[in-house]
Amino acid sequence: MSNTPAADALNPDDRAGQALAWMRRWSHWFRDTCTIDDLPHCDTRAMSVITSETSRLKRHQLFPPHSGSILDWLPDDLLAELVEEGCSAIAERGYQVDGKWNAEVGPVAESLLDLVDLPSVVRRVASIHVTQPHAATYIGYRDENDSLDFHVDAPGFGDVNLIICLNHDKPDPLGASETVFVTPEGLVRIASSRGSFILFDGVFTPHGRTPVRRGEQVVLLSLGFKVVQPKRAIRWDHLPIPEA
Ligand SMILES: [Fe+2]
Repeated sequence: MSNTPAADALNPDDRAGQALAWMRRWSHWFRDTCTIDDLPHCDTRAMSVITSETSRLKRHQLFPPHSGSILDWLPDDLLAELVEEGCSAIAERGYQVDGKWNAEVGPVAESLLDLVDLPSVVRRVASIHVTQPHAATYIGYRDENDSLDFHVDAPGFGDVNLIICLNHDKPDPLGASETVFVTPEGLVRIASSRGSFILFDGVFTPHGRTPVRRGEQVVLLSLGFKVVQPKRAIRWDHLPIPEA
């Protein structure tokens, strides 16, 4: 955390800067406190520290994470096209970010906005009103030990994050990579498979992804939404920061 700017050192009118500093402070603190490839056990001090600190974020959280099958809303043929575009993008144009691979979305993902009413999907799943997604990226975990440390999302990506799994090759389903959320009650692990989704408030729900094993590959489409209702007015300089 040594190179993380303190929120109070920023211009008080610089809301974007304050938001980014707050997000970085939490993410650095998680990295200093536990590692995603060696998760703390439930009766350890590390677990007690991360759950008690995370409990201070809960009242700001719009809703707890939801998971399910996107096939309830996404036609099979469109999913197949997304799988092809996403896997090619990660393999051919992926660039490394924080231990994983990102790639820009292409015309198939962009057509998703016209073909599927995604704000209605979010409303049905989480009873929350959002705009059309304003941010999208493909994410890949393609090399052994690719993973993502616990973090909170940059507020610029959106208030709500919908992650659709396009592909998950699991040579050994036991010990396969999972998304893990830190909650006040402990860690919540969510497995992925083609067509599964997770919807969550990425800004106030710390999360990460455990490492992929040799031969394992994951390709995801991540979409960011802004909330319309309930109104969200965040005072970044008044939010809790980790103390432990
Ligand atoms: Fe994230």
